[in-house]
Amino acid sequence: MFNDITSDDVYRIETARLWLRWPRAADAPQIARYAGEKAVAEMTSRIRHPYPAGDAERYVLETRANNALGKSLGLIITPKQRPNDVLGAIGLAETPDPKAIEIGYWIGVPFWRKGYASEAVSAAIDTGFELSDATRIEARVRTVNAASRQVFENNGFSYSSDETLFMPAREASYPVHWLALEKVAWSVRKAGASALIRPSPEWSKVAMPA
Ligand SMILES: CC(C)(COP(=O)(O)OP(=O)(O)OC[C@H]1O[C@@H](n2cnc3c(N)ncnc32)[C@H](O)[C@@H]1OP(=O)(O)O)[C@@H](O)C(=O)NCCC(=O)NCCS
Repeated sequence: MFNDITSDDVYRIETARLWLRWPRAADAPQIARYAGEKAVAEMTSRIRHPYPAGDAERYVLETRANNALGKSLGLIITPKQRPNDVLGAIGLAETPDPKAIEIGYWIGVPFWRKGYASEAVSAAIDTGFELSDATRIEARVRTVNAASRQVFENNGFSYSSDETLFMPAREASYPVHWLALEKVAWSVRKAGASALIRPSPEWSKVAMPA
């Protein structure tokens, strides 16, 4: 699904404040501590709660194997100044539709409301569209998860449908919103953003009013 660039464990994504990098064995205790919190786990379909011993190590091994095969891309979100600290995790995975990938993520509770999720999601979208064949990125969000919906809307996703979905780690079904971002919409959004920050050569010829 992904090209060779992401399948090497030196691959990482830089944002203004973050590095998104491959998970390592040494991350496991921090992953267990933060992903294991009920407020994080209960919004996801795959993180169990209470967090079982060994799940973090398994996540690291499986994610590294899938990254290496180019099957999916799972990255740990770290602060740029302290790349050994874990703030959260983010992943892009294949879906039954070869033209679509699904994004999922979590941020540890002590780091909420600092804009980290929005920043990491934005960078992962760039990677998803630039380094895979996907023309659409999808996300499912529990209907009670207003914060995550906001994160996706901050990044241009729009509502696509509702479904009641079985969440394996919850051993129950919950109503979710499906959200989606088309590559075309993302390109338009990026072009608009760069037009806003890059002055046109025509503008520079116009004299400033006195
Ligand atoms: C959802 C989650 C990732 C948000 O992380 P975060 O780093 O705090 O997110 P950000 O700071 O980038 O943005 C959160 C946005 O939601 C808003 N928000 C936060 N709590 C909210 C709430 N209860 N209701 C409505 N909006 C809320 C914030 O104001 C912010 O909006 P803004 O950017 O327009 O100001 C984090 O809460 C989390 O990990 N939750 C558990 C796991 C999860 O939900 N994963 C996603 C599964 S789809």
